[in-house]
Amino acid sequence: MAASPRAFVLRQTTLRPVPGLDGLRLHLADEVLPLWHAVQLETGDPDAPLPYWAFAWSGGLAIAHHLRVDPTLVAGRRVVDLGSGSGLCAIAALEAGASEATGIDIDPFAAAAIALNARAAGRRVRVVRRDVLGDGPPDADVILAGDCWYEAGLATRLLPWLGRARERGIEVLMGDPGRRYLPLDELVELARYEVRTTTELEDLERKDGRVYTLAPPTRAPSR
Ligand SMILES: C[S@@+](CC[C@H](N)C(=O)[O-])C[C@H]1O[C@@H](n2cnc3c(N)ncnc32)[C@H](O)[C@@H]1O
Repeated sequence: MAASPRAFVLRQTTLRPVPGLDGLRLHLADEVLPLWHAVQLETGDPDAPLPYWAFAWSGGLAIAHHLRVDPTLVAGRRVVDLGSGSGLCAIAALEAGASEATGIDIDPFAAAAIALNARAAGRRVRVVRRDVLGDGPPDADVILAGDCWYEAGLATRLLPWLGRARERGIEVLMGDPGRRYLPLDELVELARYEVRTTTELEDLERKDGRVYTLAPPTRAPSR
């Protein structure tokens, strides 16, 4: 583990505007592979996860755009940003008027990045650095999940967790550019935005970022 994830994030990133989202700045990196290598050296872990926290991902960008178009989705409500990474969705929610926002991520560098980015935005994001997918639904009104369908293991656990949250009356919004494990059959598309990303992460500099909610549960046919 890094001696200071916060110092590492500050050393490896620069605070800069997020393309397409006027006024929003995050601590971001340019290149993923050299930074990943630096994370491996810093942690002594050759299996360290990619530095997701140093980029604004297409799915999170789609959610951030959507909250600018329709702030009523979160205004005055308690928001959880699951798989928060840089804290992009949590910060976008606060800027749209959320009463509070919690960024949840398992990566200690993400926890540091969320706190740094919230501070840079003049916002307060509560940070939870652990895996909550085995827990019950969070104490929240809205869950945002930006770009979380890139890995089979995560997708398999995330979908039922979100489903249980929705059963409790929590609104669920997901953003995604069409990742492999996106459970399209379970979703309803709400909007799509052309988001500006980087070919460090994607095949194209501009992607279609879509915003989804969970489809209503299908009832078993009555006999
Ligand atoms: C592709 S990044 C998306 C980050 C951000 N939401 C965005 O759109 O820019 C996915 C994030 O999910 C986090 N993650 C993976 N498994 C997780 C889990 N079980 N609980 C919480 N976060 C998790 C990763 O550490 C990573 O930061």
